[in-house]
Amino acid sequence: MLGSGRGSNLSAIADACESGAARARIAIVLSDVPDAGILSRAQARGLPAQFVPPGPYRTKLDENAERAFIDALRQAEVDLVVLAGFMRILKGDFLRAFPQKVVNIHPSLLPAFPGLEAWKQALEHGVKVTGCTVHLVDQGVDTGAILGQDTVPVFDSDTAATLHERIQRAEHNLYPAVIAAWADGRIRVEGRVSRWAPRPADLLA
Ligand code: GRF
Repeated sequence: MLGSGRGSNLSAIADACESGAARARIAIVLSDVPDAGILSRAQARGLPAQFVPPGPYRTKLDENAERAFIDALRQAEVDLVVLAGFMRILKGDFLRAFPQKVVNIHPSLLPAFPGLEAWKQALEHGVKVTGCTVHLVDQGVDTGAILGQDTVPVFDSDTAATLHERIQRAEHNLYPAVIAAWADGRIRVEGRVSRWAPRPADLLA
């Protein structure tokens, strides 16, 4: 997992891995921010966690940093790269190193409100429903194939903070569910469109 911030999604995903809800294991947690919450949360759970210096740019990694991230992930033998609040754009070499294997969570119903502070964009636009999206990462910003979405209502009384909190609660259910389905090999992606095969238990229901 890669993140730059609080790490609440890390906690939700780690809980799902520990309970067996997701047949997956967090192999390593990397951050471009030395004191990021995601690193301390990972360490508190005994997960390998590492700060990787990002280089001089503000919104991307320089070539050496990109190489360091790729090397650390390869060394940990990861099958999937899970971004949760990683605040740098990953392009070219990084995506080629893990083709169709980098996923991200975005706090809106994409393709609405890509980019920064999507919950504020939603509030200012006046939508009545927003949500969160897990998607594959491609060369664009928040443009990759959608793997899963969940909705949340927007109330007249909402502030940016209350709406963001409601969206994050939805994220903490959606992200582990998508990772569990992916780990079970149930998600197929054809072009822009993903399809989920049912779980065996759903076929019996
Ligand atoms: C999430 O709200 C996600 O949508 C956005 O960054 C935030 C990360 O939160 N991309 P956390 O660090 O997992 O708490």
